[in-house]
Amino acid sequence: MTDRLTNLKFFIRTFGCQMNESDSERIAGILRQAGAVKADRAEEGDILIVNTCAVRNKSEEKLYSYLGRLSRLKREKPVQVGVTGCVAQLRGSELLKKKFDIDFILGPDTYGQLPHIIKKGLAEKYISTSWSKDWQETPPDLILRESSVSAYVTIMEGCNNFCAYCIVPFTRGREKCRPLRSVLAEVSILADRGYKEIQLLGQNVNSYRDPDSGRGFAELLEEVSSIDGIAWVRFLTSHPKNFGLEIGEVMARTKKICRQLHLPLQSGSTAILKKMKRGYTKDDYLDKVAWLRQLMPEISLSTDIIVGFPGESAKDFKETLDVMESVRFANIFSFRYSPRPLTEASALKDDVPFEIKTQRLEEAQRLQRKIQIENHRLQVGRVMPVLCLGKGKKTPQLYAGRNEGYQVVNFHSEKDCREKFVDVRITSCGPYSLSGERIDSR
Ligand code: SAH
Ligand code: SF4
Ligand code: F3S
Repeated sequence: MTDRLTNLKFFIRTFGCQMNESDSERIAGILRQAGAVKADRAEEGDILIVNTCAVRNKSEEKLYSYLGRLSRLKREKPVQVGVTGCVAQLRGSELLKKKFDIDFILGPDTYGQLPHIIKKGLAEKYISTSWSKDWQETPPDLILRESSVSAYVTIMEGCNNFCAYCIVPFTRGREKCRPLRSVLAEVSILADRGYKEIQLLGQNVNSYRDPDSGRGFAELLEEVSSIDGIAWVRFLTSHPKNFGLEIGEVMARTKKICRQLHLPLQSGSTAILKKMKRGYTKDDYLDKVAWLRQLMPEISLSTDIIVGFPGESAKDFKETLDVMESVRFANIFSFRYSPRPLTEASALKDDVPFEIKTQRLEEAQRLQRKIQIENHRLQVGRVMPVLCLGKGKKTPQLYAGRNEGYQVVNFHSEKDCREKFVDVRITSCGPYSLSGERIDSR
């Protein structure tokens, strides 16, 4: 073996979305296969990798402050520092012009090269941000997963939508779909290994097409759900314009698909949605939600909101609040608009002052907090299945998990129930989580 990394320890810090978390598990698996061992802290590592996000300016800044820390570490001992992910793809060699000491820069399509370039010792800086046009398969057993009960399975990567504000099509490239047969093979392996929950990942999963047969996302969902052993199937992200009737219908008739959907709204103003190039109106969105709730009254919906997009008036923003009031999301992720290089919107005048953006963000978050408290109160007294994902550090009998709606549930249990399904009676709540007692011993 030429690329053995025996006796080396690696540490990966991940920023960004679930796709990046999943990629970090892939990177970890590639390094493990080459003989390196995972370290728990950066201080213990010989190979330090930052897997980065470029979606907002703040995400990028997080990288720079973290690189400052790694550069200090590098002065104390001979480590190799690598930048991977979306900022690596976006900035490439520009990163070397900054004051940080970086050894290699790899874009999301190039992780297979890792053992080779680390082994080479990198007398010269190594940069690769090339794209491959086709899907690149990672053998499922290679991936070093964080959880042994809930697994990410990537079904497509990249995006063809070019929403006006979004950098993702430039960092992840055009849509590439994974063959259905390899998705099913991976899920079957995971089921055999005892995994209970599968989260299907893609920047725009609704536009999935099997490259071999042309079958779409609804068919993929149905097939994945038919695999024995898997109890819960989730997926993200859905684009409202591509979320077709057949997908909702499969969800409604398939028990294993969680009654939960992340459906990014971005703005409640049709005029702003048009400027964002989202391809739907406020009414289209509300109609889709009404239809989904008719099909699945218990469905839990979450969303993303951008405040302060160029040209957003107080009236436009009020429409976003109106949609939030009317849909009553279980959860939102809200952001101040951040102009990003290469995007269409970056050519627009960013005419909503930062203070107004901040005010709007706070107002949206205040409203959402109130909605969540009200939503959560309705759940007190109910009994629900919870997939236990972890254990409290301080209180030994305190566990944490998620319910079908993807809400965080903290609960007491006398017996260890990590990585199991348990029934929990909700006894109290806060704005961001539910609390309760385990009531069964299944
Ligand atoms: N493919 C997904 C994820 C995109 S990035 C999707 O389509 O939803 C995740 C979220 O970041 C987006 O939904 C959007 O709300 C936010 N976002 C993207 N670009 C942004 C920008 N320039 N400024 C602020 N928020 C942004
Ligand atoms: Fe970005 Fe839009 Fe693609 Fe989502 S659908 S990744 S917001 S361009
Ligand atoms: Fe960030 Fe790249 Fe994901 S920009 S949100 S890590 S696709």
